[in-house]
Amino acid sequence: MATEKTAPTPPAAMVSGGSSGLGLVIARRLLARGYAVSILGRDADRLEAARIDLAGANIDPSRLIAVVANATSPDDTQRAVEAHLGAFGRLDALVNVVGRSDRGRIEDLDAQTLRELFDANVISALQCSQACLPALRQTRGAIVNIGSLASRVAPRFLGGYVVVKHALAGLTRQMRMECEADGVHVGLVCPGPIAGNHSPNRYGVDADSNVPADAAAPGGGAKLKQLDPVDVADAALRCIEKREIEIIMPAKTRLLMGINAISPKFADWILSRKSSK
Ligand SMILES: NC(=O)c1ccc[n+]([C@@H]2O[C@H](COP(=O)([O-])OP(=O)(O)OC[C@H]3O[C@@H](n4cnc5c(N)ncnc54)[C@H](OP(=O)(O)O)[C@@H]3O)[C@@H](O)[C@H]2O)c1
Repeated sequence: MATEKTAPTPPAAMVSGGSSGLGLVIARRLLARGYAVSILGRDADRLEAARIDLAGANIDPSRLIAVVANATSPDDTQRAVEAHLGAFGRLDALVNVVGRSDRGRIEDLDAQTLRELFDANVISALQCSQACLPALRQTRGAIVNIGSLASRVAPRFLGGYVVVKHALAGLTRQMRMECEADGVHVGLVCPGPIAGNHSPNRYGVDADSNVPADAAAPGGGAKLKQLDPVDVADAALRCIEKREIEIIMPAKTRLLMGINAISPKFADWILSRKSSK
């Protein structure tokens, strides 16, 4: 007797901060690769605009949901996972994209600003990961955290951003060691400045500011070509599918990380010549 074949369930991914910028590009690449995708963001209008934009890319609408959720809230992230599983029945990957940059001198960094940056860049990844882990264990899935070159080096004038992106690298590493036994992979993508619609004064560096004007530029004035967001999104996909541990972009900056491991003094000297003074 012939048995009726059922279509295999597509893999499914959740993207925190998927309503704009890099997160939106990652969501688009995941959909193109055949994933069902849930995107999370706080602003309902922005999220709906992103959903319509993504759905226009000729995809089956049943493969995409948008969930209004604050990634730093345990209740919201739990509700988001329930909505995701209700729609798709499985979770294979979580991409933690939520994050916020900063500018300023450490001397002027106030504790409240650092707490807010920590919430946006570290607590968001922690809450989403904790909420998703039970479902990811079922599929032996993957978590990808979006760090920055500031997760690995410390150029001047990035305010509290270096502090929190270094913390995110630590969170990623410890979580990977702990989750390995359950078959869940945890990776980190560390991009340099990404091309996009950055407002000229996104970081509030004005004439009265205590930092040089070029620190306001993406990458804090680092002499680097801006990355194509599609390349960064594809790096996140490699973390999921090839189980890459850490991807540093652009590739030429990896040499600096290698030098840093051997001689932090030499690495500081190189960085001080290649970034805002
Ligand atoms: N842009 C760059 O040049 C660059 C370079 C290296 C690394 N990165 C990293 O890449 C990531 C994305 O950067 P981006 O420039 O693309 O950011 P972005 O354009 O500011 O987008 C941030 C996204 O996250 C959402 N979001 C923010 N806080 C949230 C929260 N608490 N809960 C849920 N959603 C939240 C935003 O929507 P709502 O505001 O509506 O919530 C938005 O969709 C960040 O981690 C950043 O540090 C960026």
